Amino acid sequence: MERVAIIMAMEAEAAPLRAALGATAIAGPAWAAALPVRLAHAPAAGTRPEVLLAVNGTDPATGVDCIGSTAAALSTQVALSTGSFDLVVTAGTAGGWQRSNAEIGDVYIAWPHITCHDRRIDLPGFDQFGRADISTADLRLLAADLGCRLGIVTTGDSLDESPTDCERILANGGKVKEMEAAAVAWVAQLHDTPVTAVKAITDLVDSPVATATQFTANLAAAAESLQATMVDLIDRLGDQ
Ligand code: ADE
Repeated sequence: MERVAIIMAMEAEAAPLRAALGATAIAGPAWAAALPVRLAHAPAAGTRPEVLLAVNGTDPATGVDCIGSTAAALSTQVALSTGSFDLVVTAGTAGGWQRSNAEIGDVYIAWPHITCHDRRIDLPGFDQFGRADISTADLRLLAADLGCRLGIVTTGDSLDESPTDCERILANGGKVKEMEAAAVAWVAQLHDTPVTAVKAITDLVDSPVATATQFTANLAAAAESLQATMVDLIDRLGDQ
C-alpha cells in the first residue's frame, strides 16, 4: 500500500497518533472550508505508506468534538476527495463487552464487517440499507501479529446502550460498539476503497459502572494503546 487515510473523531484520540507519525496540518479543499474537519499529512517513510489523517474537529455551536456518524461521513468525504487511497482506517475508542471477554485497552480490528445497530427502518429493502453491513479489508494475519482481537464493529449515534440497541447488538453479533465506523465505511465504499476499523476499548458496556465514567477514566490510556497499534499497523501496511 502507498496511501492510507485515517479518520478519527476526537482530538484526544488523535493527538498521540498525530505526534507519533509526525503528521503536520495541511489545508483542506476549498469546497470544505466551512466544515470542522482538520487534516494532517505524514509523507511515506521506509516501509510506511503516506498517511492523511482527518479528524472531525470541533462543533462551532457547542465547542466539543464532533463525534458521531454525521461528522465522520463528512470527514471521510473530505479526505477521499483529495485523491485515491489504498485503505481507509476508521480509528478511535469504543465499548466492548465482558460477555466477550473484552478488557479495557484491548485493540480490535473489524472483521468480517462493520454494521449499524440504531438505524431501524422496517420497510422492504430499507431494513438492509439501515443495517448497512459493509465488509472490511482482510487484516486477520496482521491482527494476529499485532496482538489485536477481531470482531464485528457496530455503530450507533449514542454513547449509551438502550434496551433496543442491546437486542439489536445481540442479534448482529457486535463485539465493538462505537459511533463512526459505519458512516466512514459507507463513504469509503462509495469511493471503491477498502476499509478497516481499529478501535481501542475504553469501557465495558455490560459493566455495572456507568459507560461515561469508564470512558472518561480510560480515554487517555486507550488513546496511547491505539497509537502504538496504529503506528505498528501502518508500518506493516507498506508490505501489503
Ligand atoms: N466510544 C467509546 N465507548 C463507547 C460506547 N460504549 N458506545 C459508543 N461509543 C463509544
